[in-house]
Amino acid sequence: MIVVLDFGSQYTQLIARRLRELEVYAEILPCTAPAEKVLAKSPQGIILSGGPASVHKSGSPRIDERLLRAGIPVLGICYGMQLLVHQHGGKVVPARRREYGHATVTRLGEDPLFQGLPKEMPVWMSHGDGAKSLGHNGFRVLARTSTAPFAAVADAARRQYGVQFHPEVAHTPGGARLLENFARTVCAVRERWTMASFLERSVASIRSQVGNGRVVCALSGGVDSSVAAALLSRAIGRRLHCVYVDTGLGRFGDLEHLREAFRGFKLDLKVVDASALFLKRLAGVSDPERKRKIIGRSFIEVFDREAKRLKGVEFLAQGTLYPDVIESVSVHGPSAVIKSHHNVGGLPKRMKLKLVEPLRFLFKDEVRRLGRAMKLPEILIGRHPFPGPGLAVRILGPVTWERLERLRRADRIVVEELRSSGWYAKVWQAFAVLLPVKTVGVMGDERTHDFVVAIRSVDSVDGMTADWSRLPHDLLARMSSRIVSEVRGINRVVYDATSKPPATIEWE
Ligand code: XMP
Repeated sequence: MIVVLDFGSQYTQLIARRLRELEVYAEILPCTAPAEKVLAKSPQGIILSGGPASVHKSGSPRIDERLLRAGIPVLGICYGMQLLVHQHGGKVVPARRREYGHATVTRLGEDPLFQGLPKEMPVWMSHGDGAKSLGHNGFRVLARTSTAPFAAVADAARRQYGVQFHPEVAHTPGGARLLENFARTVCAVRERWTMASFLERSVASIRSQVGNGRVVCALSGGVDSSVAAALLSRAIGRRLHCVYVDTGLGRFGDLEHLREAFRGFKLDLKVVDASALFLKRLAGVSDPERKRKIIGRSFIEVFDREAKRLKGVEFLAQGTLYPDVIESVSVHGPSAVIKSHHNVGGLPKRMKLKLVEPLRFLFKDEVRRLGRAMKLPEILIGRHPFPGPGLAVRILGPVTWERLERLRRADRIVVEELRSSGWYAKVWQAFAVLLPVKTVGVMGDERTHDFVVAIRSVDSVDGMTADWSRLPHDLLARMSSRIVSEVRGINRVVYDATSKPPATIEWE
């Protein structure tokens, strides 16, 4: 495996994902991790990420010298390269001009790192500092650009490399090959990390963790909890107990889809209809944060009660993903938590259960690939994200049964039209929102005074930022005319053309 040391670059996770796409297993550790912790992983190579700091400023992060003397190949990217040069006695200075964007590197000699790559290649640069001299320490120049004389450097004897550009981003087309050269040729990683090998290993590790114990799992119908349940079901069969809490706030056909998806799995699935309780507690509540708190609390209460009914359960399964586990180095400043996200995070402390987190080393796209490897149907794997509090945060103002039904119908139409036009898989997330606003309309000869539905559809990579989808007008027209004619109480449909930021994806 390869360890990626995070110096705070926005691209750190991308480095690990690229390597994994190349079937090289990679894990991320903060640059502050003690050398023993890094070496305990027995890495075959270490990659130093970029970062916002400047090596010539005091207090900027360093790499532990023991890692540089351990005989393990090292690749420094951007700040990582500057660090290598600096710590080996070279000189790094602020560049005359910040370089940001496309550049062309020209190679000056042959090296395994550039094997199979052209002599001139386009790369992506984003840096304010640059190496000025390499000192007398074994480093030599491998490549330069018109503005950066040291675009790539190597100390072949020590197998230490540095590149000023970012091989991990899509704007560097030869970047994947460069990372592959580093991992397979320089570090000599032979093993292929595939979903099949992951599946086999994680089944074994679940069995050794759980032994003869029993596991309870909250199944929501989302991708993560479904894939986690499928994996556990493979590992321990009927000793996995799934609980589906029906909050009444789900989409049309949620439970049926779930049952259908797990038909071949012999899953012990307990469905608890708690919709009346959720609706009662939400009555008259308009404040989005209060809605979330009520739903979160009620969910835990219902799930806890059900889990206690199961005899001899010691473990709780959670669909925690790798991005939630990675210790971040806080160089970006605190990223404000804008909404209190409801998830089952509050469960373990109360329930005194041991945690099983079979997805804790996977990125979202890998979870999907794992689901496919286990033959879960595409309709579940390719599903859009859905917030824990469900439709409650898409009904602005108080939630009532009538409003829920109205929204469920409208949302079903949006999804059906997206699927039949082939747009569902092209957008990140799309749904209907019910507004507490009445407008005037005319139907037949009658004047109407009914509610408004907004359609929201966004393109995004991770939900952190998003742009509104440019859906074809005739698709929007079909959604709109079907909603107005098929859903009672709606006489107007609008399309949300706002990006995030400044808006959020959900309306509440
Ligand atoms: P926002 O609205 O914050 O949404 O731009 C970003 C992503 O998070 C989802 N979301 C939630 N997920 N509980 C969740 O589990 C929540 O309370 C919640 N609020 C928003 C949203 O659907 C989008 O994918």
